[in-house]
Amino acid sequence: CGIVGYIGKRDSQQILIDGLKKLEYRGYDSAGIAVFTDKGLEVRKSKGRLAALEEKLVGDELRGSVGIGHTRWATHGKPSDENSHPHTDNSFKFSVVHNGIIENYLDLKDELIAKGHHFLSETDTEVISHLVAEEYDGDIVKAVQRAVKRMRGAFALGVLTEFEPDRLVAVRYASPLVIGIGEGENFIGSDIPAILEHTRNVYILDDGEMAILTNNNVELRSIKGEVISKEIFHVDWDLTTAEKAGFDHFMLKEIYEQPKAYRDTMMGRISADGRSVELKEIGMTPEQIRGIRNVHIVACGTAYHAGMVGKSLIESLARIPVEIDVASEYRYRSPIITPETLVIVVSQSGETADTLAALREAKRCGARVLAITNVVGSSVSREANDVIITQAGPEIAVASTKAYTSQLIAFMLYGLFLADTLGTRDKDWIADVLVAMQKLPEQVESILERAQVLKQVAESLAKHDNLFFIGRGIDFAVAQEGSLKLKEISYIHSEAYPAGELKHGTLALIEEGIPVIALITQEDLYEKTLSNIKEVKARGAHVLGLVNEGTEVEVGKSIDELFAIPRTLPLLSPALSVVPLQLLAYYASLARGNDVDKPRNLAKSVTVE
Ligand code: G6P
Repeated sequence: CGIVGYIGKRDSQQILIDGLKKLEYRGYDSAGIAVFTDKGLEVRKSKGRLAALEEKLVGDELRGSVGIGHTRWATHGKPSDENSHPHTDNSFKFSVVHNGIIENYLDLKDELIAKGHHFLSETDTEVISHLVAEEYDGDIVKAVQRAVKRMRGAFALGVLTEFEPDRLVAVRYASPLVIGIGEGENFIGSDIPAILEHTRNVYILDDGEMAILTNNNVELRSIKGEVISKEIFHVDWDLTTAEKAGFDHFMLKEIYEQPKAYRDTMMGRISADGRSVELKEIGMTPEQIRGIRNVHIVACGTAYHAGMVGKSLIESLARIPVEIDVASEYRYRSPIITPETLVIVVSQSGETADTLAALREAKRCGARVLAITNVVGSSVSREANDVIITQAGPEIAVASTKAYTSQLIAFMLYGLFLADTLGTRDKDWIADVLVAMQKLPEQVESILERAQVLKQVAESLAKHDNLFFIGRGIDFAVAQEGSLKLKEISYIHSEAYPAGELKHGTLALIEEGIPVIALITQEDLYEKTLSNIKEVKARGAHVLGLVNEGTEVEVGKSIDELFAIPRTLPLLSPALSVVPLQLLAYYASLARGNDVDKPRNLAKSVTVE
């Protein structure tokens, strides 16, 4: 989502709308603004793109020099006018814009309802406006501090109250927020592009910090109330660089957003004692779950590859047989679907026509459908019986990265959830996996720190026209995604093969100097994979191995180059091993001078069959 706020002497409406335009890449399913007018705090909001809000404002302008605005990417509650921000309390005296997720919003909501508050939306954000109103006793800063103390999760906030129209309060906790410093006016923004047109001098808030803005002053405090001082950051980027947060491409930005996407997708879904997965969004009763006889996973492209990992996870964790299909094939092979079949559709956009058609067919045959999607309110999310939202945030680059890895996290959570419900794994074992899962974000960060090594490897790969990816078991599923990424954006032909299958035909294509990328993360399959690597090396292949840290010496003897990934449990390794492959594809595309974010012939979302 995107936040913008203004306090000064100019008319705020256009400043807010222009700021939101610069943030549309952060979310675009609804938008809204709140402005102090001579009638008080007035709000206008609308479902859909910003243009829909602009239309609403024609002939109904909000005149006033203090306001906040928001462009939404739904995380709780479908895109609708009611769920759009800003949110208000029942007195309409307080108004809030929010980015992030309030984990304990349901508990807070129950408490507030008991105190007589009425809620108009399904969002977690609306709870904040009511909570601030509840805590207010004449000082908005103190009210926000008290409210924030009660909230768990991630948030960046902009808060206004009609009782103090000369102050705008902003808070950051694990969701970015910047304060723009002007002359006789000040700004807030969730990202620099929102305010760059007006000022290049900003304070970048850190977690647990807040800012109190007036026309002529910005006061910085901790959320506990201590006054703090901070250096002014001078932005010397242009607007396009700023939109990409300083990265050269959206794809690279999205690769680097993966640690956050992992954390956000896990947030609120692990019990406080760390021993079980809580998927409150799943309506199936334990009885119904015990009734599942088989699972079909259906998806397209990258989401299909996430499904391949999902199949391994569900089979090994819950011991339920899983079939997987490419969505465009599913309907036409007359799959055997019964009411005991659980069909899982996976789709970043939730709008892919092939996937939607498969979902409808599954429902027609009486199956229960679970969707794993990144877009709240998408067609897939509306038509499925249950939905797990991946919290990757909007993905702009056509080649999917953070959406794919968030789908892996969703499958891991769901697999553990099934295992717990069915009793196929014990609680201690599940607790250990959850500990390992929560280390994944940092482990991804440690891979990203070594991106330059992969850049060099990619530059030499980019000189080739053909290459191979090999792996066994879950590594093969990741190899397929690595190969697809490379094809999509570098246009280098590559094939992913189960390492043991190569000798049954494809080995004929291995010749002197051909690059082979081997994934060797599954310890029980080490020896067998190493034998297959020897087969390609004997035919002149140049082998790059993705290996587990600590096995470099053992495995290193058999390969030419290696890249070590941090140790995790074998079933979690895809969430790490795919990251170097994404970076290889990115840098190879760059070396070939391609349009990384918009590869030829491809579209982000394909709504035709
Ligand atoms: C398109 C995109 C792919 C994507 C596939 C499925 O073909 O180019 O990157 O994986 O659609 O998209 P979905 O939104 O359903 O995950």
